[in-house]
Amino acid sequence: MNYIAKKGVLKRVCLSILILFSLHHAGFSQAQNIPVNFRVDNLICEYKVNPIAVDVANPRLSWKLITPDRNIQQTAYEIRVGSNAVSLTKGKDILWTSGKVLSDQSVLVYYGGTMLQSRQKCYWQVRVWNNKNQVTPWSMVNFWKMGLLKPEDWTAKWIQNNYQSDTTGGPSPMFRKTFKLDHKIRAAHLYITAHGVFEAQINGKRVGNDYFTPGWTSYNKRIQYQVYDVTSMLQKGDNATGVTIGDGWYRGYTYNRKKNVYGKKLALLYQLEVVYTNGKRQLITSDKSWKVAYGPIRSSSFFDGEVYDSRKEKPGWTTPAFRDLTWDTVKTDETIKDNLIATAGPTVKKHEKFLPLKVFTTPEGDRVVDFGQNLVGWVQFKLKANAGDTMKLFHAEVLDQKGNFYTKNLRTAKQEITYVFKDDSVETFEPHFTFQGFRFLKVVGYKGPLDSTNLAAYAVYSDMAQTGHFSTSNPLINQLQHNIQWGQKGNFIDIPTDCPQRDERMGWTGDAQAFCRTATFNMDVAGFFTKWLKDLSADQHKDGAVPYVVPNVLDSVSAAASGWSDVATIAPWNIYLAYGDRQVLQQQYESMKAWVGYIQQHSRNYLWDTGNHFGDWLFYAGTNYEDGAALTDKNLIAQAFYAHSTQLLINAAKILGKNEDVQKYTQLLVNVKQAFQSEYVTPNGRMISGTQTSYVLALNFDLLPVNLRLSAAKRLVHNIEDYDEHITTGFLGTPYICHVLSRFGYTDIAYDLLMKESYPSWLYPVKNGATTIWERWDGIKPDKSFEDPEMNSFNHYAYGAIGDWMYRVIAGINTDESGPGFHKIIIAPHPGGKLTSAQAELETMYGKVKSAWSIDNGIFTLDVIVPPNTSAQIVLPAVTDQITESGLDINTEKEITGIQKVGDNEQLYVGSGTYHFVYTLKTYGKAN
Ligand code: BGC
Repeated sequence: MNYIAKKGVLKRVCLSILILFSLHHAGFSQAQNIPVNFRVDNLICEYKVNPIAVDVANPRLSWKLITPDRNIQQTAYEIRVGSNAVSLTKGKDILWTSGKVLSDQSVLVYYGGTMLQSRQKCYWQVRVWNNKNQVTPWSMVNFWKMGLLKPEDWTAKWIQNNYQSDTTGGPSPMFRKTFKLDHKIRAAHLYITAHGVFEAQINGKRVGNDYFTPGWTSYNKRIQYQVYDVTSMLQKGDNATGVTIGDGWYRGYTYNRKKNVYGKKLALLYQLEVVYTNGKRQLITSDKSWKVAYGPIRSSSFFDGEVYDSRKEKPGWTTPAFRDLTWDTVKTDETIKDNLIATAGPTVKKHEKFLPLKVFTTPEGDRVVDFGQNLVGWVQFKLKANAGDTMKLFHAEVLDQKGNFYTKNLRTAKQEITYVFKDDSVETFEPHFTFQGFRFLKVVGYKGPLDSTNLAAYAVYSDMAQTGHFSTSNPLINQLQHNIQWGQKGNFIDIPTDCPQRDERMGWTGDAQAFCRTATFNMDVAGFFTKWLKDLSADQHKDGAVPYVVPNVLDSVSAAASGWSDVATIAPWNIYLAYGDRQVLQQQYESMKAWVGYIQQHSRNYLWDTGNHFGDWLFYAGTNYEDGAALTDKNLIAQAFYAHSTQLLINAAKILGKNEDVQKYTQLLVNVKQAFQSEYVTPNGRMISGTQTSYVLALNFDLLPVNLRLSAAKRLVHNIEDYDEHITTGFLGTPYICHVLSRFGYTDIAYDLLMKESYPSWLYPVKNGATTIWERWDGIKPDKSFEDPEMNSFNHYAYGAIGDWMYRVIAGINTDESGPGFHKIIIAPHPGGKLTSAQAELETMYGKVKSAWSIDNGIFTLDVIVPPNTSAQIVLPAVTDQITESGLDINTEKEITGIQKVGDNEQLYVGSGTYHFVYTLKTYGKAN
């Protein structure tokens, strides 16, 4: 067992002792019922377990109730916070206690004690009461630690190197320092950030396992710092530390090969705070005493890859013994006035490992490795060559029609690793400051064997827990779900990007809004989006225009496009629904309002028909005149999203209690819808663009008078039938089309769309071997040739927005604003599409929700899990006879309430627990 593992065991033992302590000292009154099976667990602060860099004044605490019993609701909670874990469990030295609060809130409860100081560590635990008059023991003890809250907390100075050659695309500077620590160390924390992306080492070991830190934000306005507990990396006596910095997003190439977007000079800010066992503190900070040199990383770039000359390595450069006499001095830059913030979202980490599926020679004679999955990350190799040999690795997503390595769709991005071997030993390498989007690797300049012993590909993405699982009896749909998830993994690299391979990789807002809700079903994206939305606010123009990309690296006119900029209202609302996070609405409210304000300013008589819009991007364009019908008027779309954003603003205003705004924007919405109808809808409800997207947006956003909606839905269905049940929508219509069909009673048509295997459809790429979502419906055309390489990414998540319908309608797991964050759950599965089973699970803020159905010989079975402290409305589809739950007639179970027939369905309500329903299914639609 290594030291770290031993430490882990020790920690767990200590925690168990603490829990026993807490049980013993809890001091429950005799009258209270202490159940064995009822406890609190999963304590998190600001969405993280034991975070050490919190910089909000009142951190929010969440916990989960654990019990196998049915119908358990929290009726009260008590939180206590202290500065010492052991005293806390004895109820001593309490910093703050909430007292017993009669409330069912177990998610995002504000710390309400005295103002917290920089570096303060707070231990906390909670106990809760339930509706069965039970109380849990005090929970385990978790903690949070405050970051550096004030600029004065930073004594470190920004340092830079003096080299002339310090420029974009040049070598990566390595900064180093040695230092002595005089006493035994109690704790040590490193606060660090950079202009560029950094990798730090202490005494020869890498600090942490994050990549591309400090992450991408709107650097001129907000720059994150990271905090690492480095206690175990330091020793009494001599120590050394070093930091390498790459160009990253700060000054590296971006769109149109623009560079130096945020500045020309790389820089480091480093503050190591050591506390000795005698209570004294020592600081090691970046200042003029540091040394700098260039080393093996000759260049690094997200687009182009890395050039690494291992002959230039400086072995032992972060150990005290290393001699740095030839290294240069550094300069400090006191003019840098950064707005430093703690890291709120998840950092980027290394995840899945893929071994070569096969190694082969292409018809053109290239040696190529297939990793079997289009992924984003890099290849690690362990190879042996001669000193000075140069090897090049090229990365591609696909092979062409003839089976040759294809990189045209990368445009100017090189995605190339150049490695120079230092000697004839086995050399292990993986790049530092770059990532590639690829499935295939071309190896040039290396003749030896290539196989799973010496090559591996690693997926790298923001460290979001996988919270959702979805599968069905249809393997093609399962592959689609796989592709959606991999689209998410590959494009959630610190920010939501459009694509991870060609020379873009930017936070395109339209793509993010289309996919956002689906993203919440696959992974925990609360922190990820909260952080990014702050950059959106930061980069939003004074007049409210939201840039096409966030962080904004384009010019100042690249802003305010309908369906793109609307991410300003759509994403906060989705995060609110998925996590019940009211604060994100609060945080974004001004930005939401400013965006709607921008549109108002640019409208005449409530009609927004000006500006540049992308429209229903990449809709099915077809090849003949009639196919042109899939083109939707861009201004119609703009007006539809104007209404939608206004509606979401009203929703937010209601939740935040901004009554004046509710009234004001409700009136505005009436006028906006009116203008929509007069301009784009005939009196009989025909849309001026007779497209799927046009009807989908009008119906999804409630833009038509009620009496015209059913006929409009029929028109949508006719349109779909005209295309032989193919989808023709682009980025903006796609997320909603199946929802609209389901809402108006056409789930069978929605299934037809989903199950279609020919182009254009979701399964067409699947049938053509896709392992991610493609940018276009036909990235590879039916004749196997490619779409225009200028716009042909094979890893673009927007069309993956169908995932939301798969979770919410096929499996039927949903929530809404009456109980956001799955406090109130709706379980309404919709069998169809010849599926014989479908199951989804979602780890929510309250615990696991599950809906799993199967059909066997007409017998429908539904297994449901409703987590404690929530309740669910269950809608059982197409019921013909008596329904049993765990073998009992549902009418005899007192825990099941509100049983009511609604059409063919049976509606009922349950509290938390596990349920197993069985009944005979009425023939369900035409699909079954
Ligand atoms: C991106 C898209 C983006 C679009 C805007 C493209 O180049 O890759 O996904 O939304 O531009 O038109």
